[in-house]
Amino acid sequence: MKLLLYSWLVSVVTATDPLQYLNLFIGTVNGGHTFPGATVPHGMVKVGMDTDSPGNHAGYDGEGIYNVTGFSQLHQSGTGGQVPLSNFKLFPIHNCSAFEQCLTTIDSRKTLRHIRPDGSVDDYASPGYFSTNLSNSIRVELTSTRRTALHRYTFPEESTTPRILLDVTNDGQVSTNDITMLIDPETGRMTASGSFADSFGIARYNAYACVDFKGEFSGPVEYGPYKINYPDLWGTDIQQHYYTWGYEHGGLVGFPNSGSGPTTILARIGISLLTVEQACENAEQEIADWDFERVLQDSEEQWLNILGRIQVDTEGVDDNTTTLLYSSLYRTHIAPADLTGENPGWSSSEPYYDSFYCNWDTYRTLFPLMSLHDPERFSLIVRGMIDIQKNEGWLPECREMGTKQFVQGGSHGDPILAEFFIKYQNHTSSLGVSDQDLYNALLADAENTPPNWNIQGRQADVWKEFGYVPSNTMYRGGANTKQVSRSIEYAFDDFSISQVAKDLDKTEDAIKYTSRAGNFMNSWNGNINVPDIEEDISGFFQPRFANGTWNYTDPRHCSIHDPTGSTCFLNAIRRDGFYESSPIVYSQYVPHDTATLIELQGGVDKFIGRLDWIFDNGYFDSTDEPSQQIPFMYHYADKPGYSARRVRETIHKYFNTSLNGLPGNDDSGAMGSYVFFYLAGMYPLPATKQYLLSSPYFPTISFFNPLLNSTTKIVSKGFGSGMYVKSVTVNQIPYKSTCFLDWDVFTTSSTVVLELTDDVEVNCGGSLPPSLSSGGYD
Ligand SMILES: *[C@@H]1O[C@H](CO)[C@@H](O)[C@H](O)[C@H]1NC(C)=O
Ligand SMILES: *[C@@H]1O[C@H](CO)[C@@H](O)[C@H](O)[C@H]1NC(C)=O
Ligand SMILES: *[C@@H]1O[C@H](CO)[C@@H](O)[C@H](O)[C@H]1NC(C)=O
Ligand SMILES: *[C@@H]1O[C@H](CO)[C@@H](O)[C@H](O)[C@H]1NC(C)=O
Ligand SMILES: *[C@@H]1O[C@H](CO)[C@@H](O)[C@H](O)[C@H]1NC(C)=O
Ligand SMILES: *[C@@H]1O[C@H](CO)[C@@H](O)[C@H](O)[C@H]1NC(C)=O
Ligand SMILES: *[C@@H]1O[C@H](CO)[C@@H](O)[C@H](O)[C@H]1NC(C)=O
Ligand SMILES: *[C@@H]1O[C@H](CO)[C@@H](O)[C@H](O)[C@H]1NC(C)=O
Ligand SMILES: *[C@@H]1O[C@H](CO)[C@@H](O)[C@H](O)[C@H]1NC(C)=O
Repeated sequence: MKLLLYSWLVSVVTATDPLQYLNLFIGTVNGGHTFPGATVPHGMVKVGMDTDSPGNHAGYDGEGIYNVTGFSQLHQSGTGGQVPLSNFKLFPIHNCSAFEQCLTTIDSRKTLRHIRPDGSVDDYASPGYFSTNLSNSIRVELTSTRRTALHRYTFPEESTTPRILLDVTNDGQVSTNDITMLIDPETGRMTASGSFADSFGIARYNAYACVDFKGEFSGPVEYGPYKINYPDLWGTDIQQHYYTWGYEHGGLVGFPNSGSGPTTILARIGISLLTVEQACENAEQEIADWDFERVLQDSEEQWLNILGRIQVDTEGVDDNTTTLLYSSLYRTHIAPADLTGENPGWSSSEPYYDSFYCNWDTYRTLFPLMSLHDPERFSLIVRGMIDIQKNEGWLPECREMGTKQFVQGGSHGDPILAEFFIKYQNHTSSLGVSDQDLYNALLADAENTPPNWNIQGRQADVWKEFGYVPSNTMYRGGANTKQVSRSIEYAFDDFSISQVAKDLDKTEDAIKYTSRAGNFMNSWNGNINVPDIEEDISGFFQPRFANGTWNYTDPRHCSIHDPTGSTCFLNAIRRDGFYESSPIVYSQYVPHDTATLIELQGGVDKFIGRLDWIFDNGYFDSTDEPSQQIPFMYHYADKPGYSARRVRETIHKYFNTSLNGLPGNDDSGAMGSYVFFYLAGMYPLPATKQYLLSSPYFPTISFFNPLLNSTTKIVSKGFGSGMYVKSVTVNQIPYKSTCFLDWDVFTTSSTVVLELTDDVEVNCGGSLPPSLSSGGYD
């Protein structure tokens, strides 16, 4: 009945309740690293279960063999690198014979979950809520607001003195130092702080916590700090407890048993990046009423509000497909995290967003999806990014809790800001975004070389001098690696700036950055072939020296057929030139000028042949973002039916609603947004006004834009009879192309009708999607 709260939903006759179609456990085994705990959309606090799984990057693991080690307050979702955050674990201690006998270390306290008769773990998750039953019959439930978590522990009757522990030192990496921990003997309030290592960089951040308890009691019956397995009854200050770094430290409080039946204890834990006082204030302000159900309902409503903006007709659609759609959409609203009011770096009245992890992953699809249904949030993120640039000199790239982590490739704050500007330029002032500041921020990345381009900005001086990043530059300021992939990405970044310059009527700049966008060609070596194959596939992006001659990287390098079995993960000593994908994959990556790419690859037939060869030989890499657009690239060869076929193959093979339904890390929702677009029959071109079009998995799908109060609906005529788009009308008028839709279709409450056929040989209806060299972008 909550649906009735949203008047715009009522008007949609077939309103789907997205909350019925969510599986938060997708990707919680097998390297997806997704976070299934409780958070509000883009919440700073993400409270969830931590396990002793080697893949516990988001704390959780869906396999019952792993033990529970705590319920911590901060997480990321879908990341690689070291285990992030997982700070300030709470843990219920079941039944030790006396306070001093309680085993408090992470290894001695860890506990398995209850396993259901079918072998699955007894865990449950829905938006804003997580619960589990431990094997010792303690029930744990979690919910949260933006900066505060609320835990509910239900101890079985035989727990004579229910106890709860606060673990200060076991963050995800066990990196904690400089800790404080105080206990108030009257109330049991525990306040704590520490310094922690970030997970994909070399910086540290401070975090602060404030835990209060509520139950049928006025205060604790026992309390004290602990070190290793030695709880110290009646102590109040960890600093008086022979605190030494490298040991496990925290606090333990015990409460009276309710007398008969289970004992329920609420634990409220506020978090701050500033001070302990701020952490307490966050908790007191956000959850003054201690009302678990109220907090949960508020969170649910926020989720429903966002997810309900996308509506689908599920007639004739497998439930798993709908679940895959909404669950993927859900994961695009976990990060970036809203840390407004918690910026440890400087004071500002602008919003502050963090957990960009990393922009290299998310610029391609996550932000273009946000453009479609969440412009206000997008504007706050953009304002926060601009504020970071003003204070640090460059846009954020890969960020955690105020730290600058490693840049993966180009400066991809640029296409994110450009994506926002290109689509919302008529609304920037009402959204509080300064066009001038936004443009200045783009120019800073493009023109100014930072002192260390491993952590911000890009190697702008070299890019400007050579038009590529030479393999053998001796310039200081960052690692001499990933030169080719960075060159290709800098070109796209400059393309995105050119589009903003054009719309701001900065004609000279538009010409300059358009020209720099064409620099990808400087890294194209037309004479390279793939060794040991019969097909004639020639021309690849390759490493190039400063004197203009070429070095050589086998095109198969970093693919599953790499004869040397290399990976392309981040490593300062790699000289092969590529990051997280093969030269074969990167040689398809010129999203802004596929028309030129087709020429470089020998024309349309050769281009189609190469795409087919990539798929048929396993070079398509579903686990890394540079491959994401490849299935859609037949559009540029006037063969959109071939794209549709590859899209379906890709989803079918690699993405599903099982626990292992992701082929690799979700990357902060980057894979979620990718799957969403494929199911919606679309693929975005970031920083342009175009979306590539194919057929959705639903007879209708609609997008509500709350800023514009517009709802655009895509309707498939003949749904089920074929999946290839034969013709397109927009508001009953034949559309210029069957291969893409312009942005204005989505701003004007349009009805797009697709006529479907089973003939794969359909074409684009006379108008190919734009490329820079074939007339550019409107
Ligand atoms: C879980 O904990 C138990 C008891 O400490 C231990 O025997 C078991 O090996 C642990 N499981 C894993 C996966 O580490
Ligand atoms: C809990 O502890 C009490 C007191 O030591 C003991 O009598 C009881 O058997 C214990 N229960 C469990 C389930 O361990
Ligand atoms: C845990 O146990 C309770 C009953 O005590 C049950 O209602 C619940 O469904 C179980 N599972 C989870 C995940 O909470
Ligand atoms: C901005 O407004 C103008 C004038 O109404 C319109 O022509 C243009 O399409 C709008 N641009 C965008 C990106 O919505
Ligand atoms: C260009 O530079 C590379 C790397 O330093 C060197 O091996 C090569 O001999 C040079 N070629 C010319 C023509 O200078
Ligand atoms: C040329 O490429 C090879 C193979 O990747 C690499 O080992 C070598 O260091 C490169 N040479 C230079 C000067 O970067
Ligand atoms: C689900 O996706 C995963 C990851 O790509 C894959 O390994 C698995 O085989 C798929 N499962 C099914 C039933 O298709
Ligand atoms: C739906 O997905 C579940 C896994 O989440 C799988 O067990 C089930 O077989 C799927 N159903 C269909 C009809 O594909
Ligand atoms: C939004 O549009 C609907 C019709 O699509 C209209 O009924 C409603 O009044 C509009 N709301 C606002 C705030 O303009």
